[in-house]
Amino acid sequence: MKIRMQVNGAARELETEPMRRLLDVLREDCGLTGTKEGCGEGECGACTVLIDGKPVNSCLVPVGQVHEAELLTVEGLSDGELLTDVQRALVEHGGAQCGICTPGIAVTAESLIRREKNLDHARIRELLAGNLCRCTGYQRVVEAVAEAAAKRGGAGDE
Ligand code: FES
Ligand code: FES
Repeated sequence: MKIRMQVNGAARELETEPMRRLLDVLREDCGLTGTKEGCGEGECGACTVLIDGKPVNSCLVPVGQVHEAELLTVEGLSDGELLTDVQRALVEHGGAQCGICTPGIAVTAESLIRREKNLDHARIRELLAGNLCRCTGYQRVVEAVAEAAAKRGGAGDE
């Protein structure tokens, strides 16, 4: 099947088996290895990308479903190698350790900061519930996302 999609603002067209996982197509065919595989079963959120602005586990999506869709991966968050405010805050707060969950958290956090204006800690925890991290205990992740959201004028503190 011929798949046409926008990935991080650039048009991509590829010929592939439509049931392949979007995660694999991004990593293997598009060279976008920032998107990570954790569980491979839709449980951990490590593979999160935005499809038409919504966070989705790319390990569960057959690539045939994203024909004509707009995708954003962690590589598309920032300009070149500069970290985004969310990524910087994750590093500064110690919210990134082994790093497997971090791209998925950064992508999910970006989408929620863009969508919602009044993000308190409870709401951030709720919206990040699908992104598991076995290193940080979440408090630092939540603090980092809250700080980034507040700096963009979209959140309050706890
Ligand atoms: S790798 Fe996709 S949800 Fe865990
Ligand atoms: S930093 Fe290791 S799983 Fe989150």
